[in-house]
Amino acid sequence: MRILVVGSGMYVTGRKGTGNGTILASLIQLAKQQKLSEMVIVSKSATSALHVEEATANISARLGYKANVRFVAIPDELSDLALLVKGESFDAAIVSVPDHLHYAYVNFCISAKIPTLVVKPLTPTYEEAKSLIELSESAKVYGAVEFHKRWDESNLYAKRVLKEGKIGALNYIQVDYSQKIKIPTEIFKGWSDQTNILQYLGIHYIDLIYFLTSFTPIRVSAYGTKKTLIAKGIDTYDSIHAFIEWQNPHDAKDKFISIINANWIDANSGAAMSDQKIKFIGTEGRLECDQKDRGIELVNEHGGVQLINPYFSEYLPGDDGHETLNGYGFKSIERFVLDVIDLQNNAVSFEHLIANRPSFRSASISTLVSDFANQSLAQNAAWVDITKK
Ligand SMILES: NC(=O)c1ccc[n+]([C@@H]2O[C@H](COP(=O)([O-])OP(=O)(O)OC[C@H]3O[C@@H](n4cnc5c(N)ncnc54)[C@H](O)[C@@H]3O)[C@@H](O)[C@H]2O)c1
Repeated sequence: MRILVVGSGMYVTGRKGTGNGTILASLIQLAKQQKLSEMVIVSKSATSALHVEEATANISARLGYKANVRFVAIPDELSDLALLVKGESFDAAIVSVPDHLHYAYVNFCISAKIPTLVVKPLTPTYEEAKSLIELSESAKVYGAVEFHKRWDESNLYAKRVLKEGKIGALNYIQVDYSQKIKIPTEIFKGWSDQTNILQYLGIHYIDLIYFLTSFTPIRVSAYGTKKTLIAKGIDTYDSIHAFIEWQNPHDAKDKFISIINANWIDANSGAAMSDQKIKFIGTEGRLECDQKDRGIELVNEHGGVQLINPYFSEYLPGDDGHETLNGYGFKSIERFVLDVIDLQNNAVSFEHLIANRPSFRSASISTLVSDFANQSLAQNAAWVDITKK
Protein backbone atom coordinates (compact mmCIF):
# COMPACT_ATOMS: atom_id res chain seq x y z
CA MET A 1 0.00 0.00 0.00
CA ARG A 2 1.31 3.45 -1.01
CA ILE A 3 0.26 6.49 1.00
CA LEU A 4 0.43 10.21 0.19
CA VAL A 5 0.95 12.66 3.06
CA VAL A 6 0.11 16.29 2.31
CA GLY A 7 2.01 18.64 4.66
CA SER A 8 5.22 18.08 6.59
CA GLY A 9 4.61 20.25 9.64
CA MET A 10 4.73 19.66 13.36
CA TYR A 11 2.08 16.95 13.46
CA VAL A 12 3.74 14.99 10.63
CA THR A 13 7.44 15.20 11.48
CA GLY A 14 7.54 16.72 15.00
CA ARG A 15 9.75 19.69 15.78
CA LYS A 16 10.35 22.60 18.15
CA GLY A 17 10.12 20.32 21.16
CA THR A 18 6.54 19.32 20.38
CA GLY A 19 6.92 15.58 20.35
CA ASN A 20 7.26 12.76 17.95
CA GLY A 21 5.49 13.74 14.80
CA THR A 22 2.62 11.34 15.29
CA ILE A 23 1.75 10.87 11.60
CA LEU A 24 5.17 9.88 10.21
CA ALA A 25 6.05 7.77 13.26
CA SER A 26 2.69 5.93 12.99
CA LEU A 27 3.18 5.29 9.28
CA ILE A 28 6.72 3.94 9.78
CA GLN A 29 5.41 1.70 12.58
CA LEU A 30 2.75 0.42 10.14
CA ALA A 31 5.40 -0.13 7.45
CA LYS A 32 7.35 -2.19 9.97
CA GLN A 33 4.17 -4.24 10.47
CA GLN A 34 4.08 -4.77 6.65
CA LYS A 35 0.85 -2.75 6.24
CA LEU A 36 2.47 -0.03 4.08
CA SER A 37 5.17 -0.17 1.44
CA GLU A 38 5.85 3.46 0.55
CA MET A 39 5.17 6.95 1.92
CA VAL A 40 5.37 10.06 -0.24
CA ILE A 41 5.34 13.33 1.70
CA VAL A 42 4.58 16.54 -0.15
CA SER A 43 4.91 20.09 1.08
CA LYS A 44 4.85 23.56 -0.38
CA SER A 45 8.21 24.44 1.07
CA ALA A 46 11.31 22.74 -0.38
CA THR A 47 13.18 23.31 2.90
CA SER A 48 10.90 20.69 4.48
CA ALA A 49 12.95 18.02 2.67
CA LEU A 50 15.54 18.23 5.45
CA HIS A 51 12.91 17.92 8.21
CA VAL A 52 11.44 14.86 6.56
CA GLU A 53 14.87 13.30 6.07
CA GLU A 54 15.89 13.92 9.69
CA ALA A 55 12.58 12.73 11.12
CA THR A 56 12.64 9.58 8.96
CA ALA A 57 16.19 8.74 10.07
CA ASN A 58 15.34 9.35 13.72
CA ILE A 59 12.11 7.33 13.70
CA SER A 60 13.64 4.51 11.62
CA ALA A 61 16.52 4.19 14.13
CA ARG A 62 14.12 4.08 17.09
CA LEU A 63 11.81 1.52 15.53
CA GLY A 64 14.64 -0.52 14.01
CA TYR A 65 13.11 -0.40 10.55
CA LYS A 66 14.37 1.36 7.42
CA ALA A 67 11.32 2.99 5.93
CA ASN A 68 10.69 3.88 2.31
CA VAL A 69 9.87 7.62 2.63
CA ARG A 70 10.17 10.09 -0.26
CA PHE A 71 9.76 13.87 -0.19
CA VAL A 72 8.36 15.89 -3.11
CA ALA A 73 8.12 19.70 -3.06
CA ILE A 74 4.91 21.19 -4.49
CA PRO A 75 5.69 24.93 -4.76
CA ASP A 76 2.71 25.44 -7.07
CA GLU A 77 0.52 23.59 -4.53
CA LEU A 78 -2.54 21.93 -6.10
CA SER A 79 -1.27 22.04 -9.67
CA ASP A 80 2.01 20.34 -8.69
CA LEU A 81 0.06 17.81 -6.63
CA ALA A 82 -2.16 17.09 -9.65
CA LEU A 83 0.95 16.31 -11.74
CA LEU A 84 2.26 13.96 -9.06
CA VAL A 85 -1.03 12.11 -8.64
CA LYS A 86 -1.40 11.78 -12.43
CA GLY A 87 1.94 10.01 -12.66
CA GLU A 88 1.68 7.71 -9.62
CA SER A 89 -1.10 5.84 -7.91
CA PHE A 90 -1.88 6.15 -4.20
CA ASP A 91 -4.05 3.86 -2.09
CA ALA A 92 -4.67 6.46 0.63
CA ALA A 93 -3.85 10.02 1.68
CA ILE A 94 -3.37 11.90 4.93
CA VAL A 95 -3.86 15.68 4.82
CA SER A 96 -2.14 17.76 7.53
CA VAL A 97 -2.01 21.40 6.46
CA PRO A 98 -3.30 24.52 8.26
CA ASP A 99 -7.06 24.46 8.98
CA HIS A 100 -8.11 26.91 6.24
CA LEU A 101 -6.48 24.71 3.55
CA HIS A 102 -8.20 21.44 4.55
CA TYR A 103 -11.09 21.84 2.14
CA ALA A 104 -8.96 22.41 -0.98
CA TYR A 105 -6.62 19.46 -0.38
CA VAL A 106 -9.29 17.02 0.83
CA ASN A 107 -11.50 17.99 -2.10
CA PHE A 108 -8.54 17.29 -4.40
CA CYS A 109 -7.75 13.87 -2.89
CA ILE A 110 -11.35 12.63 -2.76
CA SER A 111 -11.95 13.86 -6.32
CA ALA A 112 -8.85 11.85 -7.34
CA LYS A 113 -10.61 8.80 -5.74
CA ILE A 114 -8.01 8.50 -2.93
CA PRO A 115 -9.44 7.52 0.51
CA THR A 116 -8.40 10.38 2.80
CA LEU A 117 -7.77 11.03 6.48
CA VAL A 118 -7.58 14.71 7.44
CA VAL A 119 -6.37 16.15 10.74
CA LYS A 120 -9.01 18.05 12.67
CA PRO A 121 -11.04 20.17 12.11
CA LEU A 122 -12.66 18.62 9.02
CA THR A 123 -13.08 22.17 7.66
CA PRO A 124 -13.66 25.57 9.27
CA THR A 125 -17.19 25.91 7.83
CA TYR A 126 -20.15 23.52 7.69
CA GLU A 127 -20.80 24.49 4.06
CA GLU A 128 -17.39 23.06 3.10
CA ALA A 129 -17.94 19.98 5.30
CA LYS A 130 -21.30 19.32 3.62
CA SER A 131 -19.77 19.51 0.19
CA LEU A 132 -17.03 17.01 1.19
CA ILE A 133 -19.63 14.59 2.59
CA GLU A 134 -21.56 14.73 -0.68
CA LEU A 135 -18.41 14.25 -2.74
CA SER A 136 -17.15 11.32 -0.64
CA GLU A 137 -20.46 9.50 -0.24
CA SER A 138 -21.63 9.90 -3.85
CA ALA A 139 -18.31 8.56 -5.18
CA LYS A 140 -17.99 6.03 -2.28
CA VAL A 141 -14.46 7.24 -1.56
CA TYR A 142 -13.87 6.91 2.18
CA GLY A 143 -13.03 10.07 4.12
CA ALA A 144 -12.41 10.46 7.87
CA VAL A 145 -11.03 12.90 10.41
CA GLU A 146 -8.13 12.07 12.72
CA PHE A 147 -10.10 12.51 15.95
CA HIS A 148 -7.79 10.35 18.07
CA LYS A 149 -9.59 11.04 21.36
CA ARG A 150 -12.14 8.47 20.18
CA TRP A 151 -9.43 5.83 20.82
CA ASP A 152 -8.33 7.04 24.28
CA GLU A 153 -9.24 4.31 26.79
CA SER A 154 -10.35 6.85 29.40
CA ASN A 155 -12.88 8.25 26.90
CA LEU A 156 -14.03 4.77 25.90
CA TYR A 157 -14.56 4.03 29.57
CA ALA A 158 -16.65 7.21 29.84
CA LYS A 159 -18.69 6.07 26.83
CA ARG A 160 -19.49 2.80 28.58
CA VAL A 161 -20.36 4.53 31.86
CA LEU A 162 -22.80 6.83 30.04
CA LYS A 163 -24.29 3.99 27.98
CA GLU A 164 -24.88 1.86 31.08
CA GLY A 165 -26.53 4.83 32.85
CA LYS A 166 -24.08 4.58 35.74
CA ILE A 167 -24.39 8.32 36.44
CA GLY A 168 -28.03 8.61 35.37
CA ALA A 169 -29.10 11.18 32.78
CA LEU A 170 -26.62 13.93 31.96
CA ASN A 171 -27.14 17.41 33.40
CA TYR A 172 -23.90 18.92 32.19
CA ILE A 173 -20.40 18.27 30.89
CA GLN A 174 -17.53 20.62 31.69
CA VAL A 175 -14.29 20.71 29.71
CA ASP A 176 -11.16 22.72 30.50
CA TYR A 177 -8.63 22.47 27.71
CA SER A 178 -5.62 24.70 27.13
CA GLN A 179 -2.18 24.77 25.54
CA LYS A 180 1.05 26.70 26.00
CA ILE A 181 1.37 30.14 24.43
CA LYS A 182 4.21 28.97 22.20
CA ILE A 183 1.60 27.19 20.07
CA PRO A 184 0.04 30.40 18.62
CA THR A 185 3.18 32.57 18.94
CA GLU A 186 5.89 30.18 17.67
CA ILE A 187 4.72 26.82 16.39
CA PHE A 188 1.66 27.96 14.38
CA LYS A 189 2.77 31.59 14.08
CA GLY A 190 2.17 31.58 10.33
CA TRP A 191 -1.53 30.79 10.59
CA SER A 192 -2.74 31.11 14.21
CA ASP A 193 -4.66 34.31 13.37
CA GLN A 194 -6.60 32.40 10.71
CA THR A 195 -8.16 29.98 13.18
CA ASN A 196 -9.30 30.23 16.78
CA ILE A 197 -8.81 28.16 19.88
CA LEU A 198 -12.27 26.55 19.79
CA GLN A 199 -11.92 25.56 16.14
CA TYR A 200 -8.30 24.40 16.47
CA LEU A 201 -8.38 22.75 19.94
CA GLY A 202 -11.86 22.78 21.55
CA ILE A 203 -13.16 20.91 18.49
CA HIS A 204 -11.61 17.70 19.88
CA TYR A 205 -14.01 17.80 22.81
CA ILE A 206 -17.02 18.90 20.73
CA ASP A 207 -16.44 15.78 18.64
CA LEU A 208 -15.84 13.71 21.75
CA ILE A 209 -19.11 14.81 23.39
CA TYR A 210 -20.98 13.89 20.21
CA PHE A 211 -19.16 10.53 20.01
CA LEU A 212 -19.86 9.76 23.69
CA THR A 213 -23.52 10.76 23.82
CA SER A 214 -24.89 10.73 20.21
CA PHE A 215 -26.97 13.77 21.27
CA THR A 216 -27.75 16.51 18.75
CA PRO A 217 -26.31 20.01 19.30
CA ILE A 218 -29.20 22.48 19.13
CA ARG A 219 -27.85 25.90 20.13
CA VAL A 220 -24.60 27.58 21.14
CA SER A 221 -23.34 30.71 22.84
CA ALA A 222 -19.62 31.51 22.63
CA TYR A 223 -17.73 34.23 24.48
CA GLY A 224 -14.13 35.18 23.68
CA THR A 225 -11.37 37.07 25.47
CA LYS A 226 -8.63 39.05 23.71
CA LYS A 227 -5.77 40.39 25.82
CA THR A 228 -2.43 38.61 25.56
CA LEU A 229 -2.18 37.54 21.92
CA ILE A 230 -3.53 40.78 20.50
CA ALA A 231 -0.86 42.64 22.50
CA LYS A 232 1.72 40.43 20.74
CA GLY A 233 0.30 41.39 17.34
CA ILE A 234 -1.73 38.18 16.81
CA ASP A 235 -5.38 39.04 16.29
CA THR A 236 -7.11 35.97 17.70
CA TYR A 237 -8.90 35.11 20.94
CA ASP A 238 -6.82 34.11 23.99
CA SER A 239 -9.72 31.98 25.21
CA ILE A 240 -13.18 30.93 24.08
CA HIS A 241 -15.99 29.75 26.36
CA ALA A 242 -18.69 27.80 24.54
CA PHE A 243 -22.05 26.81 26.02
CA ILE A 244 -23.62 24.14 23.83
CA GLU A 245 -27.08 22.73 24.41
CA TRP A 246 -27.52 19.09 23.32
CA GLN A 247 -30.77 17.16 22.83
CA ASN A 248 -31.49 13.44 22.94
CA PRO A 249 -32.52 12.50 19.36
CA HIS A 250 -35.06 10.01 20.79
CA ASP A 251 -36.53 12.25 23.53
CA ALA A 252 -36.80 15.99 22.85
CA LYS A 253 -37.23 16.74 26.57
CA ASP A 254 -33.90 15.13 27.51
CA LYS A 255 -31.19 17.78 27.18
CA PHE A 256 -27.83 18.64 28.73
CA ILE A 257 -25.44 21.53 28.50
CA SER A 258 -21.72 21.39 27.83
CA ILE A 259 -19.37 24.16 28.84
CA ILE A 260 -16.03 24.20 27.05
CA ASN A 261 -13.33 26.60 28.27
CA ALA A 262 -10.41 26.59 25.82
CA ASN A 263 -7.28 28.77 25.81
CA TRP A 264 -3.81 28.85 24.25
CA ILE A 265 -2.08 31.31 26.54
CA ASP A 266 -0.81 28.93 29.24
CA ALA A 267 2.73 29.62 30.49
CA ASN A 268 5.45 27.86 28.50
CA SER A 269 6.88 26.66 31.80
CA GLY A 270 3.81 24.45 32.43
CA ALA A 271 4.18 20.76 33.22
CA ALA A 272 2.61 19.57 29.92
CA MET A 273 1.84 21.01 26.47
CA SER A 274 -1.89 20.44 27.01
CA ASP A 275 -3.93 20.84 30.18
CA GLN A 276 -7.18 18.92 29.78
CA LYS A 277 -9.96 17.81 32.07
CA ILE A 278 -13.49 16.59 31.37
CA LYS A 279 -16.22 16.21 33.97
CA PHE A 280 -19.65 14.59 33.48
CA ILE A 281 -22.42 15.41 35.98
CA GLY A 282 -25.52 13.26 35.87
CA THR A 283 -28.71 12.81 37.85
CA GLU A 284 -27.16 9.88 39.76
CA GLY A 285 -23.46 10.59 39.87
CA ARG A 286 -20.39 12.12 38.32
CA LEU A 287 -17.38 11.00 36.30
CA GLU A 288 -14.18 13.06 36.22
CA CYS A 289 -11.23 12.43 33.90
CA ASP A 290 -7.96 14.30 34.28
CA GLN A 291 -6.45 13.87 30.84
CA LYS A 292 -3.23 15.75 31.63
CA ASP A 293 -2.24 14.19 34.93
CA ARG A 294 -2.16 10.48 34.18
CA GLY A 295 -0.13 9.90 37.35
CA ILE A 296 3.34 10.02 35.77
CA GLU A 297 5.65 12.84 36.85
CA LEU A 298 9.17 13.28 35.48
CA VAL A 299 11.46 15.73 37.27
CA ASN A 300 14.97 16.58 36.11
CA GLU A 301 17.37 19.53 35.85
CA HIS A 302 16.79 19.94 32.13
CA GLY A 303 13.00 19.90 31.96
CA GLY A 304 11.82 20.82 35.46
CA VAL A 305 8.58 19.10 36.46
CA GLN A 306 6.79 17.37 33.59
CA LEU A 307 3.53 15.42 33.64
CA ILE A 308 3.81 12.66 31.08
CA ASN A 309 0.95 11.15 29.08
CA PRO A 310 2.43 7.95 27.62
CA TYR A 311 -0.99 6.94 26.27
CA PHE A 312 -1.21 9.38 23.31
CA SER A 313 1.78 8.81 21.01
CA GLU A 314 4.85 7.38 22.63
CA TYR A 315 7.82 5.17 21.83
CA LEU A 316 7.97 2.34 24.33
CA PRO A 317 10.36 -0.61 24.50
CA GLY A 318 9.04 -3.29 22.15
CA ASP A 319 9.38 -7.05 22.28
CA ASP A 320 11.84 -7.18 19.36
CA GLY A 321 14.63 -5.27 21.08
CA HIS A 322 13.62 -2.00 19.38
CA GLU A 323 11.02 0.59 20.30
CA THR A 324 7.38 0.48 19.21
CA LEU A 325 5.07 3.46 18.69
CA ASN A 326 2.05 3.15 20.97
CA GLY A 327 -1.03 5.11 21.96
CA TYR A 328 -4.40 6.40 20.83
CA GLY A 329 -2.68 8.75 18.34
CA PHE A 330 -1.15 5.70 16.66
CA LYS A 331 -4.35 3.64 16.91
CA SER A 332 -6.39 6.29 15.11
CA ILE A 333 -4.00 6.33 12.12
CA GLU A 334 -3.64 2.54 12.20
CA ARG A 335 -7.44 2.15 12.10
CA PHE A 336 -7.65 4.33 8.98
CA VAL A 337 -4.91 2.39 7.17
CA LEU A 338 -6.43 -0.99 8.13
CA ASP A 339 -9.90 0.23 7.07
CA VAL A 340 -8.59 1.19 3.64
CA ILE A 341 -6.97 -2.24 3.28
CA ASP A 342 -10.25 -3.88 4.38
CA LEU A 343 -12.20 -1.80 1.87
CA GLN A 344 -9.83 -2.93 -0.91
CA ASN A 345 -10.39 -6.56 0.14
CA ASN A 346 -14.18 -6.15 0.56
CA ALA A 347 -13.75 -7.11 4.21
CA VAL A 348 -15.76 -4.11 5.43
CA SER A 349 -18.54 -2.04 3.88
CA PHE A 350 -18.28 1.66 3.11
CA GLU A 351 -21.56 2.18 5.03
CA HIS A 352 -20.16 0.48 8.15
CA LEU A 353 -17.23 2.91 8.20
CA ILE A 354 -19.47 5.95 7.67
CA ALA A 355 -21.59 4.87 10.68
CA ASN A 356 -18.82 3.74 13.06
CA ARG A 357 -15.77 5.94 12.42
CA PRO A 358 -15.05 9.69 12.57
CA SER A 359 -16.20 9.74 8.93
CA PHE A 360 -16.78 13.09 7.27
CA ARG A 361 -20.49 12.71 8.14
CA SER A 362 -19.87 11.99 11.82
CA ALA A 363 -17.04 14.53 12.20
CA SER A 364 -19.06 17.26 10.50
CA ILE A 365 -21.16 17.68 13.68
CA SER A 366 -18.15 19.27 15.42
CA THR A 367 -17.65 21.59 12.45
CA LEU A 368 -21.35 22.50 12.57
CA VAL A 369 -21.03 23.54 16.23
CA SER A 370 -17.76 25.41 15.68
CA ASP A 371 -19.21 27.25 12.68
CA PHE A 372 -22.26 28.42 14.70
CA ALA A 373 -19.99 29.25 17.67
CA ASN A 374 -18.11 31.60 15.34
CA GLN A 375 -21.43 33.29 14.53
CA SER A 376 -22.15 33.66 18.25
CA LEU A 377 -18.67 35.13 18.85
CA ALA A 378 -19.39 37.70 16.15
CA GLN A 379 -22.70 38.56 17.89
CA ASN A 380 -21.27 39.18 21.36
CA ALA A 381 -22.05 35.69 22.67
CA ALA A 382 -25.70 35.70 21.58
CA TRP A 383 -27.40 32.27 21.64
CA VAL A 384 -27.52 30.94 18.08
CA ASP A 385 -29.75 28.04 16.99
CA ILE A 386 -27.82 25.29 15.25
CA THR A 387 -29.47 24.31 12.00
CA LYS A 388 -28.18 22.27 9.10
CA LYS A 389 -28.59 24.80 6.29
N1 LIG B 1 -3.25 16.54 17.88
C1 LIG B 1 -3.84 16.99 16.79
O1 LIG B 1 -4.94 16.60 16.48
C2 LIG B 1 -3.11 18.01 15.99
C3 LIG B 1 -1.91 18.48 16.47
C4 LIG B 1 -1.26 19.45 15.75
C5 LIG B 1 -1.83 19.92 14.57
N2 LIG B 1 -2.98 19.44 14.12
C6 LIG B 1 -3.60 19.96 12.90
O2 LIG B 1 -2.73 19.65 11.83
C7 LIG B 1 -2.80 20.66 10.83
C8 LIG B 1 -1.39 21.08 10.47
O3 LIG B 1 -0.70 21.24 11.66
P1 LIG B 1 0.87 21.11 11.71
O4 LIG B 1 1.17 20.86 13.12
O5 LIG B 1 1.40 20.12 10.73
O6 LIG B 1 1.21 22.62 11.25
P2 LIG B 1 2.53 23.30 10.82
O7 LIG B 1 2.27 24.78 10.76
O8 LIG B 1 3.69 22.79 11.59
O9 LIG B 1 2.72 22.77 9.31
C9 LIG B 1 1.81 23.03 8.27
C10 LIG B 1 2.23 22.29 7.02
O10 LIG B 1 1.41 22.71 5.95
C11 LIG B 1 2.22 23.07 4.84
N3 LIG B 1 1.55 24.12 4.07
C12 LIG B 1 1.35 25.40 4.42
N4 LIG B 1 0.71 26.05 3.43
C13 LIG B 1 0.53 25.15 2.43
C14 LIG B 1 -0.09 25.21 1.16
N5 LIG B 1 -0.65 26.33 0.70
N6 LIG B 1 -0.11 24.08 0.45
C15 LIG B 1 0.46 22.94 0.90
N7 LIG B 1 1.03 22.82 2.10
C16 LIG B 1 1.06 23.92 2.84
C17 LIG B 1 3.51 23.58 5.44
O11 LIG B 1 4.56 23.50 4.50
C18 LIG B 1 3.68 22.59 6.57
O12 LIG B 1 4.25 21.41 6.07
C19 LIG B 1 -3.70 21.75 11.40
O13 LIG B 1 -4.99 21.62 10.86
C20 LIG B 1 -3.73 21.46 12.88
O14 LIG B 1 -4.96 21.89 13.47
C21 LIG B 1 -3.63 18.46 14.80
